Amino acid sequence: MKLSVIGTGYVGLVSGVCLAHVGHEVQCVDIDADKVDRINLGNCPIHEDGLPKLLTGVLDLRFNATTDLTAAVHSTDLTLIAVGTPFGEERIDLAQIESAARAVGEALATKDGYHVVAVKSTVVPGTTETVVLPILEEASGKKAGADFGVGMNPEFLREGVAVPDFLNPDRIVVGGIDERTRDVMAELYKPFPQTDLIRTTPSTAEMIKYTANSLLATLISFSNEIGNMSAAVGVDVTDVLAGVHLDHRFAPILEHRAEKGERIRPAMLTYLGAGCGFGGSCFPKDVKALAAHAKAHGVDVPVLRGALEVNEHQPEELVKLVADRVDAPARITVLGVAFKPGTDDVRESPTLRIVPRLVELGYDVTVHDPIALDEAEEQFGDTVTYVEEFVDAIKGADAIVLVTSWPEYRLLAEELDDATPLVADGRRFLDPDDYANYVGIGYPADPA
Ligand SMILES: NC(=O)c1ccc[n+]([C@@H]2O[C@H](COP(=O)([O-])OP(=O)(O)OC[C@H]3O[C@@H](n4cnc5c(N)ncnc54)[C@H](O)[C@@H]3O)[C@@H](O)[C@H]2O)c1
Repeated sequence: MKLSVIGTGYVGLVSGVCLAHVGHEVQCVDIDADKVDRINLGNCPIHEDGLPKLLTGVLDLRFNATTDLTAAVHSTDLTLIAVGTPFGEERIDLAQIESAARAVGEALATKDGYHVVAVKSTVVPGTTETVVLPILEEASGKKAGADFGVGMNPEFLREGVAVPDFLNPDRIVVGGIDERTRDVMAELYKPFPQTDLIRTTPSTAEMIKYTANSLLATLISFSNEIGNMSAAVGVDVTDVLAGVHLDHRFAPILEHRAEKGERIRPAMLTYLGAGCGFGGSCFPKDVKALAAHAKAHGVDVPVLRGALEVNEHQPEELVKLVADRVDAPARITVLGVAFKPGTDDVRESPTLRIVPRLVELGYDVTVHDPIALDEAEEQFGDTVTYVEEFVDAIKGADAIVLVTSWPEYRLLAEELDDATPLVADGRRFLDPDDYANYVGIGYPADPA
């Protein structure tokens, strides 16, 4: 199939390259000419494991990037819109979606033949049919349903593991205004015959995406709330959740292994453990957007509000663990700026709240991240010290605060030699027994 993808961010570029990898002909479009040039030279503008190799494998064969949206739409049968949908002051900001839809509509005005336009960005329910579709009709002078199809195809990939996620999806959701649109969208995913494909309406597709993200965000905030309480009553939240997650509704016993009692153990303990809060470009903005959208429809959503409230508070919980034990001006090393390991994305990372707060409290802060130090510098300027080597960053620190669970930080105990700084674990990633002076979210001050 020939398709164009508008936007070459995490979703647009990964989707475009992976869809070319499975056999489609793909043109990725961006308004950022530098990005387009880099991509066409085989340089990925984002850090994602496996992406550079896939990109070089398809570049100039079945894949290229361009700033010429009209030409890309004219030479393809399907367009995916994968531009950003940040949270504005009070609601989702659809400016990028609206301008991309307008440009696609204008291109459709001069294109012969049927074309499908599908929104891949995360947008609140109703957006595809009440915002994108009218813009496409107005800009093209054509009729949706007759001259072109309109759909919604949410993306579930996770940054850091975006390539394997895209190539092995849990499900594919194809929301279309009619069967013809859904058929074209389903054709795109023919190379994924093992995956459940849900055919539905655009609004349901939009709601599935928000509900999936909101459920995960809510579960994380729930674990964090229980973590804060566990520590206060003197128990370790890790032990608590280990007991809870063995419930067969979370860890089903495999049918064919029932005799041995073998279970599917979802990575709940690590994924849904307690910590200093969720970040990234999706969970915070998506839960806020859904809550705001509910409010606009006169629906109260106390659970979503609660999930956000707990998350707002969690970075402060980690700062408090340090501030209660180490007086300023002490030297504090913060490990990790990316919102999670495997990515250089720092959007809404808890580190962005923790570091300025430590600086404000008068600490001398050193920051380390294996790949996101440039991004860190953009955020913190000259208020902190940046150290490229993890081993150098921890030397002489009075306290070490772990915010991102990069695998190399597992070596922290080995690298500390005889030093015994306070180690504050914001991800419950380290073994408390390895440290003389350990504190962590959900870890009791005086463990039994
Ligand atoms: N990042 C994720 O992990 C993830 C996962 C699932 C869904 N999503 C959703 O996918 C969407 C895209 O997210 P992202 O992280 O890839 O965004 P991003 O900010 O990384 O990338 C957006 C890209 O779109 C380009 N762009 C903006 N307007 C344009 C236009 N009119 N024409 C062409 N290009 C344009 C920008 O230059 C940028 O390169 C969002 O709605 C997001 O919520 C993101």
